[in-house]
Amino acid sequence: VRTRVAIIGAGPAGLLLAHLLDRQGIESIIVDARTREQIETTIRAGILEQGTVEVLSRTGASDRVLTVGSRHDGIDLAFAGEHHRIDFAATAGRAVWLYPQHEALKDLIAARLAAGQDIRFGVTAERVEDPDSDRPRVVAVDADGAPLVIEADWVVGADGSRSVARASISGRHSGAYREYPFAWFGILCEAPPSAEELIYSNSPEGFALISQRSPEVQRMYFQCDPEAGPDALDEAELWTTLQARVPGTTLKQGRIFQRDVLRFRSFVASDLRRGRVVLVGDAAHTVPPTGAKGMNLAVADVVLLSEALRASLSDGDDALVDAFPERALERIWKAQHFSWWMTSMLHLQPEASDFDRRRQLGELRTVVESEAGRTYLAEAYTGWPLPGVE
Ligand code: DHB
Repeated sequence: VRTRVAIIGAGPAGLLLAHLLDRQGIESIIVDARTREQIETTIRAGILEQGTVEVLSRTGASDRVLTVGSRHDGIDLAFAGEHHRIDFAATAGRAVWLYPQHEALKDLIAARLAAGQDIRFGVTAERVEDPDSDRPRVVAVDADGAPLVIEADWVVGADGSRSVARASISGRHSGAYREYPFAWFGILCEAPPSAEELIYSNSPEGFALISQRSPEVQRMYFQCDPEAGPDALDEAELWTTLQARVPGTTLKQGRIFQRDVLRFRSFVASDLRRGRVVLVGDAAHTVPPTGAKGMNLAVADVVLLSEALRASLSDGDDALVDAFPERALERIWKAQHFSWWMTSMLHLQPEASDFDRRRQLGELRTVVESEAGRTYLAEAYTGWPLPGVE
């Protein structure tokens, strides 16, 4: 088959790109190896920057983000037995929305299907061919093993951290990366929220994040050994571990119905584009989860790229596509820094000395006591402005 833009991956990046292109009258095909049900039920991130919410709501991708999602005007930074509020409204003049990623995906998939646009579930892309030609191709197989070749003007790899599109650009593992000596143990439980806002806690036992999903369901994480399995602790041990890490707050407990371990790393691919193949989202970069930048960064990539592809396809002007990697990388590295900084400041390093621990508390105190410090955190957390979305 032939299309203008072949998109690999029906995650936030691929689905939003297709939506923005469709609004410009540009046809695309999305393929994803997963089923619709898998995509719509996998629990991922939950925090959307203000700019992300504006893109979703103003372009008709999601109305529910404003009705079902809830606005958060600050977070609670906890350390040394104290709680400190970072007031986003007072410092950055912006906010974030708590709206689970899979809900945003449901909205985007529904919009795509309602528009009668092409989206193919259960289709696994195997490779991208001829990136340097003006007819690059995605070579794929469908759920029954039948081959499918999609020829396009542009191929976009929105296929996550194990991207096959990346392999056609510069080799799958080529890029700048950093590992961390810890992971997050995540749970979902049936309980009311334990606090009004999210709590990011640095404790002597390690980091914990008390997040939320809805009035009835809460999401919580604690720092754990990256080798730990999700069944390492029973329910009572999970609550003891979590509670010990948020002194001063009494967690409201309830049945734990999902648990997972998230490994984390920082990564930026060495090239975001080769010829007529471009990478966006996790295919281009991975951030550690602290600070919730992953999905938001994918949205920022796609806002830039959709404009660039429109100029190329409608006006024959490739200047914006040529500029895309450099422009996208400016934000990507700011987000890499913020995610690394939040991670480093809040987690217990396994080899930490007494000096390291006390320096970290000094850093946290510097941030919460300084208006400039609180403002930096708030600006980065709520998201730097997106082009064309103010
Ligand atoms: C969530 C995840 C994050 O990484 C974060 O910084 C805040 C919230 C969440 O899943 O709720």
